[in-house]
Amino acid sequence: MRGVTVVDHPLVQHKLTLMRKKDTSTKSFRQLLKEIGSLVCYEVTRDLPLETVQIETPLTAMSAPTIAGKKLVFAAILRSGMGMLEGMLELVPAARIAHVGLYRDPATLACVEYYFKAPDNLAERTVIVVDPMLATGNTAIAAVDRLKEAGAKNIRMACLLCAPEGLSNFQGHHPDVKVWTAAIDDHLNDHGYILPGLGDAGDRMYGTR
Ligand code: URA
Repeated sequence: MRGVTVVDHPLVQHKLTLMRKKDTSTKSFRQLLKEIGSLVCYEVTRDLPLETVQIETPLTAMSAPTIAGKKLVFAAILRSGMGMLEGMLELVPAARIAHVGLYRDPATLACVEYYFKAPDNLAERTVIVVDPMLATGNTAIAAVDRLKEAGAKNIRMACLLCAPEGLSNFQGHHPDVKVWTAAIDDHLNDHGYILPGLGDAGDRMYGTR
């Protein structure tokens, strides 16, 4: 699928299988999501541009590569984005954070924003949206709409699992936003859950069910 990278590294696939198992504990689920967050982050940032700076090692001067431009922004969609964000921050501790809170109005089924806070200068930063489950795609679409409205131009999407229906919906709305995911599953069920999936990521992460 164009614009989508499936992170097929054996460590990611192994950890994802552990997460899918229904008997995996809350503690392990949270730990695994954090670990996969780091590994997916490694791939999402693989092609970031570098610039050369002059440094001195204990032995000599050299030109050495550093990541060019302003600090990255990780935009976590509440609430399950938080678990994946933790792992991403282990890899990029200086990243700036945006929080995007959206819920679905049960009457209209429209996405309603209840919280949005993002760093300044979004237009000058690479923004990586973090949401483990891209199911219908509607939340991710609304989050990217909002980030674009706030100025973001260079946006990427980091997920754990996607449904094919959600991916096409998302790419139809935001063809400029590339997606990284650990797997593309089979389909969505009538309740908007990804199958085979792993259940409700937020509930499993926080032990709320
Ligand atoms: N959100 C989840 O947590 N799980 C799904 O399967 C779909 C959406």
